[in-house]
Amino acid sequence: RIKIVAISGSLRQKSSNTALMHAIIALAPDNMDFTVYGGLGDLPHFNPDIDVDDGPESVTELRTQLNESDAVLICTPEYGNGVPGVLKNALDWLVSSGEFMNKPTSVISASPTPLGGDKAHASILLTLNMINAKIVEGGTMMISHINLKLNKDGNITDSSTEQGLRSVLEGLAVACAN
Ligand code: FNR
Repeated sequence: RIKIVAISGSLRQKSSNTALMHAIIALAPDNMDFTVYGGLGDLPHFNPDIDVDDGPESVTELRTQLNESDAVLICTPEYGNGVPGVLKNALDWLVSSGEFMNKPTSVISASPTPLGGDKAHASILLTLNMINAKIVEGGTMMISHINLKLNKDGNITDSSTEQGLRSVLEGLAVACAN
């Protein structure tokens, strides 16, 4: 079985990225077990001075969840042409500890704009590549007009988006097998 940690980069109650993350989990094959990481908003601001011993408890929990996983799925919005601060903050905690090393990782950005969060997408890939995440071949996707592709229950209503997400999951499974 494949253990995957799923992270949404949005703290918003009605986040389209969080809805999308859950929709992807629902599309996934039976051999994928997801754990939704919900602690982004509880992490302290990254500060190497407090990253001593195991670091803060919330950071240890994040690191443990990632260490125990085979792969990671990230769904993120774009804020101010960049990666949401809370998500970047979490990644900053992981730069020195190495949990992403060779970890198959899918990145999806979704935005109501026509650009699909392309700047946040490019930016998070720079960070993930720096920490040697295994960015999945065919395992990334930018979704534009997300507001038109999810219904009020958070289900995907656009068939080509659904197809694209299935391919992303296939890419993730292949990366985990290699
Ligand atoms: C945005 N949004 C946005 N969208 C985008 O594509 N590029 C951007 O730079 C920004 N910047 C931005 C700044 C601020 C302050 C807000 C409130 C919003 C729009 C954003 O994509 C939209 O609110 C999404 O719905 C946020 O994602 P979630 O929370 O729905 O997952």
